[in-house]
Amino acid sequence: MPTFQTVRGMRDLIGEEAQTFTRIFANARKTADLYGFKEVITPLVEPMELLSAKSGEEIRQRMFIFEDLGKRQVALRPEFTASIARLTTTALRNEPKPLRLFSVGTVYRYDEPQKGRYREFWQSNYEIIGSAKPEADAEIVLLTDSLMASLGLQGYAFKIGHVGVIRGILTQEGVDDKTQNAVFQRMDKKEYDAAMELLESRKTRQMLRGLIEIKGKDWQDTVEQIKTYVAGYEKAEEAAQNLSEILKLVTCGANLTVMVDPAFARGLEYYTGMIFEIYIPELEIALGGGGRYNRLIEVFGGEPTPAVGCAHGIDRVAIALQTQKTILDGKGGKKVAVIPISEALKSEALKIAQTLRSEGLTVEFEVMGRKMAKALEDADKRKIDYAVIVGERELKEGAVMLKDLSSRQQTTVSIKDLASKIKS
Ligand code: HAM
Repeated sequence: MPTFQTVRGMRDLIGEEAQTFTRIFANARKTADLYGFKEVITPLVEPMELLSAKSGEEIRQRMFIFEDLGKRQVALRPEFTASIARLTTTALRNEPKPLRLFSVGTVYRYDEPQKGRYREFWQSNYEIIGSAKPEADAEIVLLTDSLMASLGLQGYAFKIGHVGVIRGILTQEGVDDKTQNAVFQRMDKKEYDAAMELLESRKTRQMLRGLIEIKGKDWQDTVEQIKTYVAGYEKAEEAAQNLSEILKLVTCGANLTVMVDPAFARGLEYYTGMIFEIYIPELEIALGGGGRYNRLIEVFGGEPTPAVGCAHGIDRVAIALQTQKTILDGKGGKKVAVIPISEALKSEALKIAQTLRSEGLTVEFEVMGRKMAKALEDADKRKIDYAVIVGERELKEGAVMLKDLSSRQQTTVSIKDLASKIKS
């Protein structure tokens, strides 16, 4: 018999790993709630053209595309943003702005698998649609901070830039959009020489090289240097000013570590303004990223609508938690095994299990029909806190035996006090 394995780049999540993911989802939902985002659930499969519009060559080439039985070209979503943009121009077209939309789920990219890079991975995604103000950009950065803090991650830092700075320079120097996109793609990969080769004019190349060199001691200093450097390039000046306003808001709202990088570029083509990524010192891969995209929604036939958003890579956040040995709080509740002494007592035992569950306790009812010693040994192995042993003699008095599996102490407890005794 052949043994089957998962498709390359895709994983099973089992046990603690699955639990970590579920807890990250819960924190992501709580963060969405705190910032007033409403959850939307969109299809995993979308028309191919929708997903490839404006996402950029990088992602277009790495999509899982197939023809369905109706001969439609469809693809597995490589991100959520295009689906949200579609929703904004259809079902949510007449909703009052701003829309604050949250999604969580799997996305698919044909990336080369390695640590933190998979072909199926999870994202928590947040979009604010309808505001061009720096306040909206700030909200997106701040919610990322709230999520990372709620997970207990330490020492994380934001890398922030603004595509308008480079675009402003290149447009004024007469570089067409297509070349600009190609330049951004190279810069995203830090292939600066390859980016320069795409530019014909020496002056433009020099201008870009100079920008890459800018480093400041703090964000104010860096932004001031950028402003001075781009003087005369009107759009680039506006972009630097916009970045400075966003950073002012963000740093008022929280005590963040931010590194401003004027040469920072991201793989996606649709960004028009502020862009950011978040890192922890122990890992070189971004835990999340996002930015402003004011021209995407109109591509789907909507009114020109400004928008800003971000997505967090949950697989990578899980790696970060593991690296920093952060244990996420679960439900915090005690775990109980309910075991009847004999076959005859199983319905009574099940009734007790149900009562404990209705009190919010996690209960594993003995489903293997094992002898007491075996069932207790198993409960011990799986780090269950208490065993409730249902025996005839105690039951007659309305009681059970409660065994604390860490202290090994056993007491008789009346059924009506059982839940509170376990919780105390
Ligand atoms: P992105 O930077 O392509 O942005 O992806 C966001 C995050 O997903 C990354 O920072 C990373 O943590 C994670 N990620 C990306 N590729 C992989 C992979 N192959 N394996 C594991 N994790 C990965 C977006 O997707 C944009 N849609 C974000 C956005 C929303 N911008 C505006 N709105």
